[in-house]
Amino acid sequence: MKLFLDSAEIEEAKLFSKFGVIKGVTTNPKLMSDSFGKIGKQTTNQSNYDISGTSKDAKSSVEERYSEEINHAIEISKITGTKVSVQPSSYDYESIVGFGKLVFKNRNNLILKVPPTFESFEAVRYIRKNLGFIDVNLTLCFSVNQAILGMQLGVQYISIFVGRLEDQNENPFEIIETVKCLIESQQLEEYGYMNSYISENKEQECSLDKSIALEHKNTEIIAASIRSSRHVRESFKSGADIVTTPGKIIRELFNHNLTDKAIKSI
Ligand code: G3P
Repeated sequence: MKLFLDSAEIEEAKLFSKFGVIKGVTTNPKLMSDSFGKIGKQTTNQSNYDISGTSKDAKSSVEERYSEEINHAIEISKITGTKVSVQPSSYDYESIVGFGKLVFKNRNNLILKVPPTFESFEAVRYIRKNLGFIDVNLTLCFSVNQAILGMQLGVQYISIFVGRLEDQNENPFEIIETVKCLIESQQLEEYGYMNSYISENKEQECSLDKSIALEHKNTEIIAASIRSSRHVRESFKSGADIVTTPGKIIRELFNHNLTDKAIKSI
């Protein structure tokens, strides 16, 4: 059970890492833009990020912007001592690969966050094949089907959007429960397979172990789009490994009127 901070704000990262309650950080283009706005850096319109078929100048300004965001995320990672998920703002193949290369260079601090689309899957495969292994957070997941696809790709995190599912009267917690069940059954299957393979092929034990560790690291469920402390509780209860939440909800978790009363009276 881990709590992540869903924010790109340096001050929030500093504040909550003091208390030892955050075990990771997630960001997205909107959160980056808000944070850059607050610290006086120019914000870029999301459509400006699309680098496919753009001029050389536009392309280099997008690349510049991407590297500013990457540096910002690395700063957060150093403050919290955890990895930070970062997401490109444009989802064409070329943009994801360009952004993914920057993430790869900083893979000890960062996780590539992408939505479940053909382009994302192709880009992740390209990066892993041509550069090397990279942690992936499959974001904007709203169904068990999308989670199944993420498991095939061997992503480390599947982010299920609780608040947005409830907004359209779907039950996010049933989805989390089912995905959890599937992940556990896949882990059992792989564990059995690995054990029988190792006992039959003792001399190859090491190489097998390594490739399985890289390709099938345990997938964890992140409950995202958290709007209340009830969402935090229900998500963990349904089997989420991680809940990523804005700072204001972390504050809410600390609160109880009886604690306040008792602090004054005891
Ligand atoms: O974790 C994803 C989050 O930043 C989006 O939340 O409230 O806009 O659905 P929300």
